[in-house]
Amino acid sequence: MLSRGLRLFVLASAFFLTVFLITTDRSQAQDSTTAAADEEKPYKIEKDGTVDWATFSGFRRFNSECFVCHGPDGVGSTFAPALIDSLKTMTYEQFLDVVTNGKTEVNTAVQKKMPTFGTNPNVMCYIDDIYAYLKARSDGVLGRGRPAKHAEKSQEAKDAEAACMGS
Ligand code: HEC
Repeated sequence: MLSRGLRLFVLASAFFLTVFLITTDRSQAQDSTTAAADEEKPYKIEKDGTVDWATFSGFRRFNSECFVCHGPDGVGSTFAPALIDSLKTMTYEQFLDVVTNGKTEVNTAVQKKMPTFGTNPNVMCYIDDIYAYLKARSDGVLGRGRPAKHAEKSQEAKDAEAACMGS
């Protein structure tokens, strides 16, 4: 039941992310000369360093659920790869697949296992936030540590969170 619900959620969020990206791209194209550079970015960072809510939320979630293995700020550890490098080539779909279903590296003497997070709402309800944060880090537009300034949490984000955590 739960995993089916989450699966639907994952599909729905992938869909909404796409719609979101298309609409933001469109609105930015009108008032920005760098529309092409902003294309398909899941994060938004103002000139003064203020990050959008998703990126800030992703920072918090990453540093509570993922950093023990992947290192603080996504820089990697001896146990798990640097996600700021992984995301340079990984697609959103591939990222989602690994986090949802896990992955086990079989070619090493010590078995290294990426856990399955598909039924963990503390991860899956914030997966787009984690992706936005890691993508900003990977693109080199966000430094290490806690972002100094962030946008307020929108009512939309609050509603989506409540709906997801309640399912
Ligand atoms: C218990 C340790 C552990 C935790 C916690 C963990 N991971 Fe992993 N993760 C790994 C290991 C080990 C690998 C490498 C597995 C392999 O290559 O087969 C990995 C691989 C990945 C990959 C694929 C990277 C690549 O280059 O192929 C992604 C994406 C990923 N993890 C995301 C996450 C996210 C997001 C979180 C937090 C929600 C997380 N991981 C939490 C251990 C962990």
